[in-house]
Amino acid sequence: MTEIGTMQDLEALAAEIATAIESVSSLEALEAIRIDLLGKKGRVSLMMRELGGMDPEARKQAGQELNRLKDRIATAIELRQTLLGDAALNDRLAAEAVDVTLPSRPHTEARLHPLSRTIEEVVAIFAEMGFTVAEGPDIESDYYNFTALNIPEEHPARQEHDTFYLPPDAEGKRKVLRTHTSPVQVRTMEATEPPVRIIVPGRTYRSDHDATHSPMFHQCEGLVIADGIHMGHLNGCLIDFCRAFFGVDGLPVRFRPSYFPFTEPSAEVDIGCTRDGGGLKIGAGDDWLEILGSGMVNPRVLANCGYDPEKYQGFAFGMGIERIAMLKYGIPDLRTFYDSDLRWMRHYGFLPFDAPSVHAGLVGGSS
Ligand code: PHE
Repeated sequence: MTEIGTMQDLEALAAEIATAIESVSSLEALEAIRIDLLGKKGRVSLMMRELGGMDPEARKQAGQELNRLKDRIATAIELRQTLLGDAALNDRLAAEAVDVTLPSRPHTEARLHPLSRTIEEVVAIFAEMGFTVAEGPDIESDYYNFTALNIPEEHPARQEHDTFYLPPDAEGKRKVLRTHTSPVQVRTMEATEPPVRIIVPGRTYRSDHDATHSPMFHQCEGLVIADGIHMGHLNGCLIDFCRAFFGVDGLPVRFRPSYFPFTEPSAEVDIGCTRDGGGLKIGAGDDWLEILGSGMVNPRVLANCGYDPEKYQGFAFGMGIERIAMLKYGIPDLRTFYDSDLRWMRHYGFLPFDAPSVHAGLVGGSS
């Protein structure tokens, strides 16, 4: 059995321990000291155990001394623990400080669909020419989709439209999913007085499905009505648009006679291209690509809408958004627009905060 030691020994031990605790610089090292002293096999604990073999008088004294030493150690450790804990927290706070002035990270995962982007571009170009955006319903009456546009009941153009009809209402009238954005021409003229200068981007529907047709697709209509509007305005406006949209300054644009019941005369608009070597190149060569339909608004349509055809003239045009997006961005299959395939979106999509690129825009193009 060993001697616990004299009071002087304990004092010396206490001083040594106090120094060790004060100089320790991490919580881990402090815990190691605590175990070394107060743990089950710690030095102070072992000394406590020796008390059992002592005679009662000496045990009492030594017991008191040891308990006091134990308390002092525990207090010193606790104090140091608090200090080190605070320091550790301060270090963490300093290291993890958030710099709120940093710019936020771009959301690189999100992409704008090429159709949204194309509509933005078309709207941006026509906005520069002073057009505003108008809208109408997807579910249309037969009157707005056909009759008011000079397509009466027995007109062959009705068959060409592959119309989706809704079930007949109480009066036996069947509404349609609009087959083009042209009904918004009529709605706008009914609701406003000339001058009119609108474009109408929106969804349209036809019962047709293959690599170049989808039952739901998008068009953008255009309508300009004022006193003295003539074919030259139509030409200039659409040439400027084609050149701005495809970003080709001298892009050849051709007006080819055509027929639409709601315009007279009517013209299909083609742009110059080459198809050499399998690839399609817009802007040069001796081939032509159809882009949109257009014409001077038929006087009958003006009259149907309450405009005096003797006083007002105008032009209208309509283009397929998918078609011009496919041509501009080299997207080969129309059906992929609606597949919601993320890999496709990463390839053909656009970063949301990029401004729509209208390339050369209209600068220098119009006068
Ligand atoms: N509505 C026609 C179509 O869907 C396009 C067009 C609009 C033609 C306006 C001329 C004028 O094919």
